[in-house]
Amino acid sequence: MTEISASDLTLEEKASLTSGADFWTTKAVERAGIRSVMMTDGPHGLRKQAGGTDHLGLASSVPATCFPPAVGIGSSWDPEIIERVGAAIGVEAAIEDVAVVLGPGINIKRSPLCGRNFEYFSEDPIVSGVLGAASVRGVQSQGVGTSLKHFAANNQEFDRMRVSSDVDPRPLREIYLRGFERVVKDAAPWTVMCSYNKLNGVWTSEDPWLLTSVLRDDWGFDGLVVSDWGAVNDRVAGVAAGLDLEMPASGGRTDKQLVDAVRAGTLAESVIDTAVARIVDLVRKAGDRPAATGPLDVEAHHALAREAAGRSIVLLKNDGALLPLSPTQKVAVIGAFATEPRFQGAGSSLINPTRVDAALDALRAVGGDDVSHAAGFAVDGGAVAASGRSTEELREEAVAVAAAADVAVVFLGLPAAEESEGFDREHIDLPEVQLALLDAVLEANPRTVVVLSNGGVVALPFADRVPAIVESWLLGQAGGSAVADVLYGTVNPSGKLTETVPVRVEDNPSFGNFPGEFGHVRYGEGLLVGYRWYDAKGLAVTYPFGHGLSYTTFEYGAATAEVTEAGDIVVRLDVTNTGDRDGREIVQVYVAPTRSHVQRAPRELKAFTSVALAAGETRSVELVVRREDLAYWDVRVDRWIVEGGEYAVDIAASSRDIRSSVAVQVDGDKVLIPLTMNSSIGDVVAHPVAGPIVLGALGGFLGELSGADSSAASMMPNDEAMEKMMASFPIGRLIGFPGVDVSHEQVEQLLAAANAGGPAAG
Ligand code: BGC
Repeated sequence: MTEISASDLTLEEKASLTSGADFWTTKAVERAGIRSVMMTDGPHGLRKQAGGTDHLGLASSVPATCFPPAVGIGSSWDPEIIERVGAAIGVEAAIEDVAVVLGPGINIKRSPLCGRNFEYFSEDPIVSGVLGAASVRGVQSQGVGTSLKHFAANNQEFDRMRVSSDVDPRPLREIYLRGFERVVKDAAPWTVMCSYNKLNGVWTSEDPWLLTSVLRDDWGFDGLVVSDWGAVNDRVAGVAAGLDLEMPASGGRTDKQLVDAVRAGTLAESVIDTAVARIVDLVRKAGDRPAATGPLDVEAHHALAREAAGRSIVLLKNDGALLPLSPTQKVAVIGAFATEPRFQGAGSSLINPTRVDAALDALRAVGGDDVSHAAGFAVDGGAVAASGRSTEELREEAVAVAAAADVAVVFLGLPAAEESEGFDREHIDLPEVQLALLDAVLEANPRTVVVLSNGGVVALPFADRVPAIVESWLLGQAGGSAVADVLYGTVNPSGKLTETVPVRVEDNPSFGNFPGEFGHVRYGEGLLVGYRWYDAKGLAVTYPFGHGLSYTTFEYGAATAEVTEAGDIVVRLDVTNTGDRDGREIVQVYVAPTRSHVQRAPRELKAFTSVALAAGETRSVELVVRREDLAYWDVRVDRWIVEGGEYAVDIAASSRDIRSSVAVQVDGDKVLIPLTMNSSIGDVVAHPVAGPIVLGALGGFLGELSGADSSAASMMPNDEAMEKMMASFPIGRLIGFPGVDVSHEQVEQLLAAANAGGPAAG
């Protein structure tokens, strides 16, 4: 335990600790034993800048292993490999004496256009939360901290430093905060990074509701909150709201603001003490890590990067078992991405890799001279572009190579300049030149495989015409080798989509509400984000959330589900590898209440697991749906509520490939909704205390209303219709109606008694 004494610090010293010394380090107060610590990006490798520092990736950083970014490794749906990668990043950070790695990023992929989607895991909060927690556990297992980011509702890059994300309470809690809550509760990140944007009009960097009420009071976070780099708007308001550390340095300007505010009596010194205690705690934790001795095992980490990349590749389509390739086939490799791989996105996460594998080299290592190559097209700024050959020449060469081969493998993808931190995409289309090349190749050789390299989802207008499609996302420095492993079948693909591939960007739920205007972006689609929307609207998609194929096949046995005493749903089933190759299957569990009082998506992912199965093997698989994940956020009482009743539990290979369904009965949370004069008769009748009394008092009146000869009944088609109409009638409005034999005072007393805690309602 490092000895630190913060109790006799001067106000100036304390204020100074709450902002950075430079771009990446905190300030020290040597006389109190408080040393400076370094925080640096993240998330899919270490970006420790060696000389000049900036956060936009301009100055180069020390070589580090570039593991697959979140878009890639997320497709593994595999916390185990993500934790191992996290641990490896922790080791690299420790060797470089970095205290905190700035990641993981777990923001929801609200729109496929978000320029930074490559740094995020999913359109679903359970996937983001489970995988984010695994990443935190891995890094922190090495005594290195993490920074869970970007908190919160930072789902676009356009105007990211000023825009207000205007989100209703339910989607905010159920979609945008749920993943953060999961990671905070399950993995206790050392730090959380607030985002740049405003949330419902308040800067997240100075939002006491977000940074204190939700994060600390509701979720129990006891670490440190750091600003995104340059996110501080008003430092005094920020520290009061719960923003402990401002990064990077402010040149002492904001430290002085804090001192002045305390002296002027507008900020309690205890607020600064609290922030300082958290900073000191971080420094202490960092000091507790035993000194790490290098050197970095470059080979071992590269091998792990290759394994992780292999686990991340998604086989979207494989008609006629075109894949895997055989080493004796003549293979035409076409496309500049085979020689100039795109393996990570641009911006603050840009890693300086220890080495980079190109797919062509890796394919040739297996197929030798049977692997031919043509560039096919030029990627802006790449080597092929620089070679100065015309589009026609490149295309003709590719067609000739394809025609002479047994199989053509065409590497398509997004040019690096099209997606980055700092701006969004304007469309989801692949460049025209690539689509035209593909058409020409297909004509020359219909046995064509497309391999995609992209950080954000792309439209696949050729999906019906191409027999095999491999989504290889951005896979980190060993991605080229991993693609070859999958193409030749030494690795059996097992990745699945953590986001929907839509037919058109116009089908996306945020379309029309993205990226907003004049400082506001309205999350108008509410809860129906990603597959929730496509399913609710019954829209066709190119590939659904959760989809991914294998070179083998899996059979799901009939599932059982039981509710434990704690209220969790335990699902069990047998899964069998029915083919002749070893493989992995990602089993998914979707849940929805059969009836609900509130809006619900048709089904929501609640649990998943990645299971390794040898050829022919059957394994019994168990998945747990946590009771809290069944809850919706009730705006009337500002809390989570699990509705009682029947829930459909679907066990699925994708969101649109349900293999087994069971129903379970779930006990509802006991909750009392306060009754008022404006409560509906339906609500009052349903109340366990007020209900029977009101029914007694109004029974005659209600009976009369529905009586066949009453004047009211004559205007309604039948009794049921009358009951439905009356159910929404505010109870207070009935008082004084002819036939209603209760006074205002009596109703008031009744409501007061009910609110004072009669037995609770389910
Ligand atoms: C990014 C963060 C990053 C920070 C430091 C910001 O621009 O949004 O994700 O950690 O810079 O580089």
